[in-house]
Amino acid sequence: MSQQIAIGTLNDIPQMGATTVETPNGRYAIFRTRNDEVFALRDQCPHKQGPLSQGIVAGHTVTCPLHNWKIDLSSGEAQAPDEGCVNTLPIEAQPDGTLLLTLVD
Ligand code: FES
Repeated sequence: MSQQIAIGTLNDIPQMGATTVETPNGRYAIFRTRNDEVFALRDQCPHKQGPLSQGIVAGHTVTCPLHNWKIDLSSGEAQAPDEGCVNTLPIEAQPDGTLLLTLVD
């Protein structure tokens, strides 16, 4: 079962940055790329739970602020040689800029 919730607008997130949102499944980081794509990842690095929302966004990756692992924004997978995966959620921007996050049970 899934549920969509509105979490603000695209303009609430700095380009190449992130904001966070609390969900029943924990805190998620909402990333915005240079090209205004948005991605939702659990705000916990798969290495040692670093806050990915405070990482550096480049292209479709975020670099964890603690030990520099690079995490793919669409899959949540750490890039080789590191291994691990962080949970992702579907997110979409509506034509008016409203962001809808899909919570999955
Ligand atoms: S906690 Fe993210 S790289 Fe170590």
